Formats: sequence, C-alpha cells, structure tokens
Amino acid sequence: MSSVARQRLFAPDAIDSLRSVADVDTDLVLTDFTSGEARAALAPAEIILSGWGSPPLDALALAAAPRLRALVHAAGSVKPYVTEASWRRGILVSSAAAANAIPVAEYTLAMILLANKKADRMARAYRERRTRLDLLVDFPEAGNYAKTIGIVGASKIGRRVIELLSPHELRVLVCDPYLQDATACGLGAARAELDELLAASDVVSLHAPALPSTRHMLDRRRLALIRDGATLINTARGALVDQDALVAELRSGRIDAVLDVTEPEILPSDSPLYDLPNVILTPHIAGALGVEVRRLGAFAIQEIARYAAGHGFAHPVTEADLTRVA
Ligand SMILES: NC(=O)c1ccc[n+]([C@@H]2O[C@H](COP(=O)([O-])OP(=O)(O)OC[C@H]3O[C@@H](n4cnc5c(N)ncnc54)[C@H](O)[C@@H]3O)[C@@H](O)[C@H]2O)c1
Repeated sequence: MSSVARQRLFAPDAIDSLRSVADVDTDLVLTDFTSGEARAALAPAEIILSGWGSPPLDALALAAAPRLRALVHAAGSVKPYVTEASWRRGILVSSAAAANAIPVAEYTLAMILLANKKADRMARAYRERRTRLDLLVDFPEAGNYAKTIGIVGASKIGRRVIELLSPHELRVLVCDPYLQDATACGLGAARAELDELLAASDVVSLHAPALPSTRHMLDRRRLALIRDGATLINTARGALVDQDALVAELRSGRIDAVLDVTEPEILPSDSPLYDLPNVILTPHIAGALGVEVRRLGAFAIQEIARYAAGHGFAHPVTEADLTRVA
C-alpha cells in the first residue's frame, strides 16, 4: 500500500493489536513486489496486508512468496489486486468492503432524507428570492413521510441503506436479480423489477457494481421512467448510467441528481454536471475518508486475528463472487 494509506489506516493502538497476532514489520510498506527489499519480505510471508496503492499479486510476486496463504485487503474491491495466478495458487482473500459500506450508506441516508425534504431546492429559492417563501404552496410534495425509496442492488451498501431507512416512515423497494422475495422481505423491503422501481420511487439509489451486465442499466428509456420531481442518487459507479441521457433529463429540470461517481472521474472541466442547479456533485467521497479510514485498518487486523486463531475469514471473497460483486 502507499505510505499515506499505511499512516491513515493504522492508529498506534491498531499497530499494537496487529503485533499481538502476527510477526510483522510495521515499518515495511511496499508499493511494488519487484525490489530486493520486497522479495526478501515476500520469502517468509504467509499473509499480505494490502490497501490503496498495493501492486497486483501477479505470478512473479507469487513465485517470490512460497509460503503465502492469504491476502487481507484493508480497502473495498479486491479486483485490481487479485489475479488469475493468485486464485490458481489458492490464496485466500478477505476484503474490508463491508467496513467501507458503512460511510457510503450514511452518505446515502443523509442524501435521501435531504432530497425528500427538497432542502437543496428550498435553499436555492431562498438565496435567489431573499424573501419569505410560501413553502406549503411551492413545495407540496416535500418531506419524509410515506415516500417510496428504490434501492438498486441488495449489495453490502444497499442492505445497510435499507437498515438505516428502517426507523423512517418510508416504503422501500429493492431490485437485484440475485435476490429472493423472502430475503427482500426479511430486509424490510419489497422486491421489484427495475422498471417498476424506477416508476414508483421518489428517490432511486444505485448500489450495483460496475459489470458488463450493469453498464448503462439506466439508459435513456429507463431514465425516462423515473417520476417527475424524483431524485437519482449514484454512489455506485458512473458506468451504470448513460450520462448523456442523464444530462438531458437534468437539463429539463424534471428530476434531480446526487452524483458521487461519474464517467469519467474526474469530469472534464466543461461538463454540464458541474453547473446544473439540480445536481449535487461530490468527488467520490461517500466511501471511507479521514478518520473513517481507520475502520478499514481495524477491520483488516480483525481478519488477520481470526486467521491466526485458526478461524476462517469473516469476510472472505471468492473467485466466483467477482462476477456479481463490486
Ligand atoms: N462512492 C464510493 O465511495 C463507493 C465506495 C464503495 C463502493 N462503491 C460502489 O458501490 C456499489 C456497491 O458496492 P458493494 O460493496 O455494496 O457491492 P457488493 O459487491 O456487496 O454487491 C453487489 C450487489 O449487486 C447485485 N447486482 C449484480 N447485478 C445487478 C443488477 N443488474 N441489478 C441490481 N443488482 C445487481 C449483486 O447481486 C450484489 O448483491 C459498487 O458499485 C461499488 O463500486 C462506491
């Protein structure tokens, strides 16, 4: 991982707990597996603790690490780091994606509640008019009562958003091709097909992964199904949405959007998404940032402690998972 990731991930007490479960050189931080120092460290290593800035675990690195059994990733998706060669070697993999889901779900909950309240539209109207607003007349649909929230993807984040929504008097629909009716019901949501969810929701929140099958899942036709006055929240990946079609919908003023992810990231400086008044655009901030990053470090150390105690990982990732997860 990068040295900045190393600093942010592990507070001194986390380093102490890591030392209590593993023989580890906590000052050795590698961003490539080819240097002499890296090869000397790989030779006896049973576990690699990786994070942002790690190199991929390719065949050369594996050849230098004959005792390696596991990769514990102190960040979200492991897709850039695990390789065909590491799966073939049977290297076990754990990820801190479940810990990273927490801040994304918190961001989403906040945005859902403020979107329903029409807070951004009201703030804009106040700033523009600088007089008392006739809120009951101008915003008859504002508020968080008996609204419908559509969650696309019963993912780690999607499920946590549903959980965080549970104290509120809102109806939740969820769409995920791998989800059964009974499981959705157990989550406190009703399963719906995507078209039905888009047409019925006051807020649509995307939590599916970027896969070939999800590219532009919200295309022009589906964006047109979203109700007038609704808000689309995307904290997942820009590739899920046909962005040109979305810009056209947003220009019409028919819907609002909260976009934490776009395609590409970073947007070109002349992108209309920077300036459209009905868009809240944030620079991929929903996941762990600042102090939240330490949660990822603590989570990874817990996984190493489980492994050292002879238990399996609580959050394993398998090769088969990667066809449907982030
Ligand atoms: N903005 C951020 O900072 C941030 C941080 C972390 C994750 N993410 C993104 O959030 C999204 C969710 O991540 P996660 O870790 O919760 O995902 P996950 O890997 O836990 O789950 C993915 C889910 O998507 C479902 N799915 C697959 N195809 C689908 C489809 N066509 N329609 C609906 N659901 C489908 C799968 O069944 C699975 O339940 C991903 O796109 C991820 O990249 C963003």
